[in-house]
Amino acid sequence: MKVLVIGGGGREHAIVWKIAQSKKVDKIYCAPGNAGIGEYAECVDIGVMEFDRLTDFALEKGVDLTVIGPDDPLAAGIVDAFEAKGLRVFGPRAAAAQIEASKAFSKDLMKKYHIPTAEYETFDKAQDALAYLETVRFPIVLKADGLALGKGVLICDDLDEARAGVRTIMEDKKFGSAGNRMVVETYMTGREVSALCFCDGTHILPMTSAQDHKRAGDGDTGLNTGGMGTFSPSPFYTKEVADFCEKHIYQPTMDAMKAEGREFKGVLFVGLMLTADGPKVLEYNARFGDPETQVVLPRMENDIVDVFEACIDGTLDQVDLRFADNAAVCVVLASSGYPENYEKGLPVEGLEMFKDKDGYYCFHAGSRKEGGKILTNGGRVFGVTALGDDLKSARANAYKAAEWVKFDNKYMRHDIGKAIDET
Ligand code: GLY
Repeated sequence: MKVLVIGGGGREHAIVWKIAQSKKVDKIYCAPGNAGIGEYAECVDIGVMEFDRLTDFALEKGVDLTVIGPDDPLAAGIVDAFEAKGLRVFGPRAAAAQIEASKAFSKDLMKKYHIPTAEYETFDKAQDALAYLETVRFPIVLKADGLALGKGVLICDDLDEARAGVRTIMEDKKFGSAGNRMVVETYMTGREVSALCFCDGTHILPMTSAQDHKRAGDGDTGLNTGGMGTFSPSPFYTKEVADFCEKHIYQPTMDAMKAEGREFKGVLFVGLMLTADGPKVLEYNARFGDPETQVVLPRMENDIVDVFEACIDGTLDQVDLRFADNAAVCVVLASSGYPENYEKGLPVEGLEMFKDKDGYYCFHAGSRKEGGKILTNGGRVFGVTALGDDLKSARANAYKAAEWVKFDNKYMRHDIGKAIDET
């Protein structure tokens, strides 16, 4: 089989690495890919939004299956574009990807189908949102409706902050057209858990749980980032929580999307808050998480191509999804200054340390190859993942491996995978 993966970050590196283990696959392409992905796949210099070039490429090369990584092309209809040309593709169509692309859509869906989530109101005009803020209790959550690289969520402690937030989103348009509408939501407290689920339009199979650390600094301080590290499984995602989510959140979401004529196929990423009143949905994403994928896939025992095919064919109920009884921790190595200003093009040493070492992986998030050397090429540069028998040993292994990689101004958090009651 020939497989094409769309994307070029750490998530796509983990997906490509996992596909490379499939006995069914003899050739992998990745567009655009990165230096690490290039070890397993032929990288193709086509952007993720260039649907005509991507579909032409897939037809020309006889690609049997295409797997979509990022949210933007999904929201813009990349799956519809591939299907229109008779190509097999893994991911939700644009109508289903709305569950991530519009916060207002997903909140209305949850309200209509009684899926537990925070109370909310939606606004098209800043003046209406500002008037509503006079009536709420703080803290409060403001969400830009559209896709905003995970940055369109503001938690505001008081009225002044919230007023400034509304202006930032709806008037200054800090997140572009994502801020044409806005959701104002009650603030929830509890533990956050990420549940990535395979979906075939009817059936939904949750993978093992994970948790990410979004803030730049230790102890969840500093600016929001694309994710500074992850661990899996979450000790807070007990069997009782899993059972509740399957009954009251996952299957009802699948059924709701089907009832709305938006059958969801692909990966549904359910961001959960485990509140005192039970698990509630924080947000949905229509794709694998980044860097959750970097800790979930190394623990997965199935051939991932079989699972992708079952999702496309509607036969997920016949899949026995298995995860190893171990743990994984991923520590993101960033360039100092991320998520604001940082240098690129710095030479990297030490990557050879990962060669042939089972249970240690260096997934590239922002790197490029020049004259045989690997250079940094982004704010988040690598996700170093290690396995262990439990979270504690996985964390020790990940931090040991994080020291193998050397580049100037390397920055990482030091508390990834440290569950709060272990500190
Ligand atoms: N780690 C959060 C996300 O992928 O959106």
